[in-house]
Amino acid sequence: MTGLRCLVLLSGRGSNLATMIAARDSGQLPLDICAVISNRSTAPGLDIARQADIPAILVDPIRYPERQDYDRQLSRLIQEWQPELIVLAGFMRILGAELVNSHHGRMINLHPSLLPKYTGLDTYNRALTAGDSHYGASIHFVTPALDAGALISQAVLAIEPGDTAEIMAARLQPVEHQLLVASLELFSQHTVELIDDMLHIDGKPYAKPLPLAADGRLIPAGEFNQRS
Ligand code: GAR
Repeated sequence: MTGLRCLVLLSGRGSNLATMIAARDSGQLPLDICAVISNRSTAPGLDIARQADIPAILVDPIRYPERQDYDRQLSRLIQEWQPELIVLAGFMRILGAELVNSHHGRMINLHPSLLPKYTGLDTYNRALTAGDSHYGASIHFVTPALDAGALISQAVLAIEPGDTAEIMAARLQPVEHQLLVASLELFSQHTVELIDDMLHIDGKPYAKPLPLAADGRLIPAGEFNQRS
């Protein structure tokens, strides 16, 4: 298979994986999803992978109770599959610094908040409690500090009167899917790097994440929010 060679890590539903598979199968995105790894045996995302004939692997924390051993097993598998990019799509486990550092600039995470706001869990309720006017999703490079690596792209939505965390999550989900596909497209068409803790696209630094436009694409090259 040709295209950007991705390994997906997930813990749950797998709707983002399903979106990647659909984008690959429709020819929208040249993707080679080489394997899917989960830390949860019951993750529906593992079944989505199996149904698409993608190797679906469980790395069970019960078998590897020590974080170091868990991460070592994960490293071994990543080494085996040789992905160009590791995509954390709802992977709800913290990875150790050694593992993260050994995949510097090649590991990205999708997070349901407008980072740097609301790292970690319960992002929708925290935005509601703070009285924010907007919320959204971010894709960032994974670095040892939780949800704190350089931002790559972001999608912003308004918080509406009467919103609850559930309503906000449901409204964000299709937008997250668009953001992920557009970001993977960016990786497949450009050289996207993490240099000195900053996003670089085709060698140029970007201090801010690329915004998702209304048509579901990232603002195109040349109009990127480039650092002056
Ligand atoms: C997504 O909403 C993603 O933003 C979130 O998990 C969900 C996975 O959905 N990620 C995190 O919270 C990471 N901290 P999916 O399993 O349907 O793709």
